[in-house]
Amino acid sequence: MQETRTEQLSRAIAYETEHCAPKEAKPLFHVTPPVGWINDPNGFSYYKGEYHLFYQYHPYSTQWGPMHWGHCKTKDFVVWEQLPCALAPDTAYDGQGCFSGSAVEHEGKHILMYTGVSEKQSSDGRVEVLQTQSIAVGDGISYVKYENNPVITAEKLPKGSSAADFRDPKIWKEQDSFYAVIGSKDTDGNGQIALFSSKDAYDWKFEKMLDYCKGEYGKMWECPDFFELDGHHVLLVSPQFMQAQGLEFHSGNGTVYFIGNYDRESFEFTRGNGCQVDYGMDFYAPQTIQAADGRRIMIGWLQNWDNYITPEESEWSGMMTIPRELSVKDGKLVQVPVRELENYHNNRISYRQIKLSENQNRISLDGIKGRCLDMTIDIESGDFEEFHIELAADEKNCTRLSYDRKKKIITTDRTYSGLRKDVITSRSMYVRETDHGLRLRVLLDKYCIELFVNDGEQAMTSLVYTPLSAENIYFSCDSNAVFSITKYEIKMPE
Ligand code: FRU
Repeated sequence: MQETRTEQLSRAIAYETEHCAPKEAKPLFHVTPPVGWINDPNGFSYYKGEYHLFYQYHPYSTQWGPMHWGHCKTKDFVVWEQLPCALAPDTAYDGQGCFSGSAVEHEGKHILMYTGVSEKQSSDGRVEVLQTQSIAVGDGISYVKYENNPVITAEKLPKGSSAADFRDPKIWKEQDSFYAVIGSKDTDGNGQIALFSSKDAYDWKFEKMLDYCKGEYGKMWECPDFFELDGHHVLLVSPQFMQAQGLEFHSGNGTVYFIGNYDRESFEFTRGNGCQVDYGMDFYAPQTIQAADGRRIMIGWLQNWDNYITPEESEWSGMMTIPRELSVKDGKLVQVPVRELENYHNNRISYRQIKLSENQNRISLDGIKGRCLDMTIDIESGDFEEFHIELAADEKNCTRLSYDRKKKIITTDRTYSGLRKDVITSRSMYVRETDHGLRLRVLLDKYCIELFVNDGEQAMTSLVYTPLSAENIYFSCDSNAVFSITKYEIKMPE
């Protein structure tokens, strides 16, 4: 299929091959680009026995630019193999970018559905943006755009829907049909989710607006996903322009989930209120897959639009979260790192019932340090009101996880985490103590911190750019506390 590569695609592949950034400069077990910028995960799918992941990609700089689709694959969600760039903006309907989309396997072919962005000049000279949905078909390495693209245009949407904000199709197969949910915007600028169906993945019919923002959760809803989980249906959306409400829905771009019931005959989705998927500073536009063994697994972009903190000298920008297993418990979405990560655990170090007291400075524990690790801390008892964990620490730096027990709030503070930009440096969330206290699982991978509270009840994900030599970990509290800890290094095959 090589000879079908356009000039733009060949150029991107040659560039990423020649300029690939050294692996030492990148996280160990999180997906990053070979070089340049990435944002949303795309086309997360199972194809011929392997899991493929594409992503929004601009190889030529560490800033967003005309979007390509980068590509990698994995057998176990932890070790990823880089593949050549799969799509470039090289046609009349996607010349301004191949925006986000998804993928399914069908009759041995790998079918991608993505948003093509183009521009046209209106009669009064203004430039209008057009977003349409297109198909590309491939073999797991090379992809060919369908000759009759685009397959869905905004003309198929109800009157008043925007043609400029119509993007991010998430496609799936159900019985003998294909379905896709696509982000859209109504006349008032509110997000809505359009549901389409097709018998063959090429000829699509608008079925229904599955859900509306109703002025409640931001504006345009980007990157929808819709799936069955533990007897419920879950809608994920990533709204733009949200406004914070207390500690919920921080302002700007965030990701919200709705749990509800879905009637497959009438396409009616009845749902509860929206909840935040991740409370950190860097999480957006996740996408899910149903794994071969039935698990629903989500991966998100571990960065956010308003918080660009990539160091100037870096040759790459943007990474993905650890893939997370999802479930619904007590009406809430629960997320834990994929169990396959445990296959890369190395060098277990564990301490039981460590006692902290107020007349003690912060303490460190032999062997509890590092920047690529998986560590679980159980804060079990004591009469403390504040408990602090300092990560990626040395004399100058640290990222602080603080638990304010009175207010029941956990805060991540990255003020001293290598940042050289005036961006947001802390965010907080409410947590609860269980009968066993508070359980914090921390994944650290050089430049990112993913915190999972109480076995995945809540997640909080943030980027840091602390120098890699800062690898100490300290514990402290304002009175006395008893905690236990188990830590593993993550070790990848050479
Ligand atoms: C979300 C998003 C999508 C769009 C893509 C462009 O982060 O804005 O809506 O398809 O990024 O790169």
